[in-house]
Amino acid sequence: MSQLFQPRADAIFRFVLWTAFLGAVVALFVAEGLSHSSYLTGRNIIQPQPTEFSHQHHAGELGIDCRYCHTTVQTAASAGMPPTHTCMTCHSQIWTNARMLAPVRDSYANNTPLVWQRVGRLPEYVYFNHSVHVDNGIGCSSCHGDMTRMQMTWQPHAFSMDFCLSCHQAPQNYLRPQSKVFDMQWQPPANQQEIGDKLLKQYHINTSGLLSDCSTCHR
Ligand code: HEC
Ligand code: HEC
Ligand code: HEC
Ligand code: HEC
Ligand code: HEC
Repeated sequence: MSQLFQPRADAIFRFVLWTAFLGAVVALFVAEGLSHSSYLTGRNIIQPQPTEFSHQHHAGELGIDCRYCHTTVQTAASAGMPPTHTCMTCHSQIWTNARMLAPVRDSYANNTPLVWQRVGRLPEYVYFNHSVHVDNGIGCSSCHGDMTRMQMTWQPHAFSMDFCLSCHQAPQNYLRPQSKVFDMQWQPPANQQEIGDKLLKQYHINTSGLLSDCSTCHR
């Protein structure tokens, strides 16, 4: 009797095995797809903010310097976010009744900071430093895109390891003179190759550890 069952049990066993295998393959593809999707990388996603602050308006049309609000971008690891006081230097004088600015006025009156939602953030285990980049000829737009054209803020590049390494393996392709670091429209000129090599020396950049030394970013 038991012999009668065996072929069928075997078929069921094989069926279960194959389903498990195919399931695992599908799961792998989904995970791989997800890990590059905007959902997980945060790329190109606009976050709801306490008020609709516009870089296009403030940094683009009004021409306010990035450092007016991100005061430590040249001196520290973190760029820094503007306290409400910085907004009120202007908005206690202009647009004082605008409904859009009510959260800013409330924040100031109640002494509670505005909670901005971040659009680009690195995992805890990655070390990053703004001043090292900004003071050595890497411009904001190489990593953040042209902020002067963003009504709401979004992050055009996923901050993946590939993204960092694509520059670390040949930073000369991206190096700018110091005067162009805050230029949001900068594009590498035709003779970037030549200029980049000169700037590499001028900034005393040692490229040897940038790519191969994991502890540059994982410390
Ligand atoms: C140097 C002056 C200045 C500073 C500093 C400033 N703003 Fe403004 N802001 C303006 C002007 C000028 C307008 C536009 C009025 C108009 O449309 O003509 C404006 C408009 C706005 C608006 C209306 C929507 C828009 O963009 O047109 C919001 C919201 C706003 N600002 C938020 C902020 C916040 C938040 C801060 C602080 C992080 C801030 N502003 C700092 C000058 C400033
Ligand atoms: C008037 C103040 C002001 C100025 C000038 C300004 N910013 Fe901002 N910035 C903000 C505020 C407020 C936020 C948070 C809200 C948001 O993300 O839009 C912010 C957020 C950012 C972020 C954070 C994105 C994230 O991870 O969430 C980047 C990058 C940035 N600014 C770059 C720049 C650059 C580059 C310039 C100059 C071209 C600049 N900012 C000029 C006020 C300013
Ligand atoms: C080499 C790439 C790179 C360059 C160049 C760069 N940033 Fe960033 N920026 C980042 C990364 C990565 C983060 C996220 C850091 C984190 O989550 O720890 C960030 C975050 C920020 C933030 C959010 C606050 C913070 O410090 O975490 C602001 C504001 C900002 N950058 C402004 C600027 C401005 C202004 C410039 C140009 C003067 C600039 N950045 C140049 C990569 C860069
Ligand atoms: C567009 C080019 C570019 C991009 C993109 C870039 N870097 Fe860099 N990075 C450089 C250059 C150039 C240096 C070397 C500066 C020097 O040593 O003078 C550097 C140096 C560093 C250092 C060394 C700082 C130190 O203390 O020695 C760290 C850490 C770092 N980068 C992290 C990152 C991370 C993390 C990312 C991705 C989120 C990133 N970088 C993206 C160009 C870039
Ligand atoms: C220039 C900076 C930089 C250097 C150098 C670097 N990493 Fe990373 N690494 C990153 C960033 C940024 C992430 C975060 C990726 C993300 O969030 O998608 C990361 C993530 C990782 C992860 C997590 C898994 C993943 O891929 O998301 C591992 C493992 C890793 N790195 C290993 C290494 C090893 C090993 C080295 C040396 C050969 C190295 N890294 C060198 C920036 C760097």
